Amino acid sequence: MLSSIKLKFVFVYFLLVFIAMSIVGMFIIDNLEEHQIENVTNNMVDLVETLIGTSSYIADDDWIENREGIQNTIASGLVDSTESLYVIYDGEVPIIIASSSKGYEEIVGKEALHQTFIDPTIVLDAFTGNKGESIVKELNDDTVNKHLAYPVYSNVGKIKGVIYMTSNLENVYETVEDSKSILTNATVLALIITIFLGYLIATSITIPIRDVTKKAEKMAMGDFDQYVDVKSDDEIGQLAGMFNHLTKKLKETIQEMDLERSKLNTIFQYMAEGVIAINIYGSIIHVNPIAMEILRINEEDLLNGKTIDLKSLNLNNINYGNVSSLEGTELLSLDTQVYKIKYAPYKNESEIIGGLIIVLQDITQEHKLDNMRKEFVANVSHELKTPITTIKSYTETLLENDIDKDLEKNFLTVINSESDRMARLVRDLLQLSNIDYKKTTWNKNEISINNMINGIIQKLEFSIKEKEHNVVLNIQESVPNLIGDNDGIEQVLLNVISNAIKYTENGGIIEVSAYNKENDIVIKVKDNGIGIPKKDLDRIFERFYRVEKGRSREMGGTGLGLSIAEEIIAAHNGTIELESDFGEGTEITVILPIV
Ligand SMILES: Nc1ncnc2c1ncn2[C@@H]1O[C@H](COP(=O)(O)OP(=O)(O)OP(=O)(O)O)[C@@H](O)[C@H]1O
Ligand SMILES: [Mg+2]
Repeated sequence: MLSSIKLKFVFVYFLLVFIAMSIVGMFIIDNLEEHQIENVTNNMVDLVETLIGTSSYIADDDWIENREGIQNTIASGLVDSTESLYVIYDGEVPIIIASSSKGYEEIVGKEALHQTFIDPTIVLDAFTGNKGESIVKELNDDTVNKHLAYPVYSNVGKIKGVIYMTSNLENVYETVEDSKSILTNATVLALIITIFLGYLIATSITIPIRDVTKKAEKMAMGDFDQYVDVKSDDEIGQLAGMFNHLTKKLKETIQEMDLERSKLNTIFQYMAEGVIAINIYGSIIHVNPIAMEILRINEEDLLNGKTIDLKSLNLNNINYGNVSSLEGTELLSLDTQVYKIKYAPYKNESEIIGGLIIVLQDITQEHKLDNMRKEFVANVSHELKTPITTIKSYTETLLENDIDKDLEKNFLTVINSESDRMARLVRDLLQLSNIDYKKTTWNKNEISINNMINGIIQKLEFSIKEKEHNVVLNIQESVPNLIGDNDGIEQVLLNVISNAIKYTENGGIIEVSAYNKENDIVIKVKDNGIGIPKKDLDRIFERFYRVEKGRSREMGGTGLGLSIAEEIIAAHNGTIELESDFGEGTEITVILPIV
């Protein structure tokens, strides 16, 4: 089938050649006819002029006298069968005095202007001195003849008559007809060649265009490996070249976009924050694995077009009619975790708000730290306030009242012990702060654990005896010395052992053991005291954390001992762990590297 461009091309070519050939044909035929008739006329004029110039009878002014001579002259084969000659004498009326036709006798003597074979207008024209000419379609035999009336002058310059000649134009028209058929044939041939050539040219144009179109179609379907052959340097070749250039550019751009998308996708998939994009109806458009985990969304939910209830994310004031309500930050507690929810609108291609992007940032740790900080400040304030209140009220009583010596001493003892307690608290806080800001310098020396533990037991002998505890020392003899800060390690062990003494009912058993395990020294302090409830175990190393605040405080504790111990042990690259059964007892294990 002809593709439309081919059809158009061939049609336009056809039309062009057809019109050109028709115009040229018409022009040629017209000119040819005119030229042929002019030739015939010239021949007739030549013949008549020759006749006038050569015939003495015609030259003589008295044509009536010479009528026979004239008749003989013109009938003597001057003209052929398709031509006729008449001599018209200008008597009273123009009269035919001689004729070349066979039955001349019947014509001679007749009035010229009344004869059907004579065109009277040109005869009259000739009598005025002009050369009369006309083309006449004869009524009797349907032939077309050229008529010529040529004036003949007398010796005195008067027109004495007219030589009238007719010549059949059949040959002329035959020639014209022949030429017409030749031209028609030529036109048909030219049109056939045109169609053929037009088809070839159109094909040579459409093949590369089709090639480009086909490849463009494939590109539209996502196959970008499409290149066309550039076969020429013309416009089609340039089109093909440009197509290849575009393909290359497009491929590069798509590759770049793919790379960008894959980068963004990787970021989206692996970022620590959960990200979810929803449309204005709440349907999920995008969600990353973290957000899916946080919001408990599975693949099936996505396939089912799950919607997100904004209220479940604490976004209660979202109103798509009010842009300022679409951006902000909220806090959300889900189970044990705390999330910071940041949300902002996104726009679609038509610059209309398409929905919201919600980012979920897990701030549980920060939240916890923040709470701890607040708790810490509250704790410090509280711990300082209690002794200050006590000291203040005791000193006021002492100052205002006259009290006896014993009571005074009693009061001063309380003031003293509360001041000690404050001093201890401040010392502990200072120590923690120094550790936090890495200001503490550790003086690392060789330490004999055996000596250290024995020293501590001696220091605590009073309270051990007071509580009637039974302390069992189980220190391996070969336990090597370790390198560490003497005061720091002693502080840790002193706290751990005094905790065991403090938090064990009277008459308890406290077992302190130390042994060497590979490159570490393991020190265990085990008691059969009150123990720690399971729920408190996780927090026992936190600053100020005490199981029973009141009771522990009574015992002089601030709840900083274990947190300081943990920091000191960590600074020595060791570990400290606590195991406890509530009501059964507690075991602390400190592991320190020897060097
Ligand atoms: N051996 C133990 N048995 C039972 N409870 C313990 C034991 N050791 C510690 N605890 C609990 O852990 C809490 C924290 O101990 P930590 O040593 O940090 O503070 P404290 O002894 O109260 O005060 P501080 O040591 O600062 O004087 C204690 O208040 C206590 O409730
Ligand atoms: Mg303690």
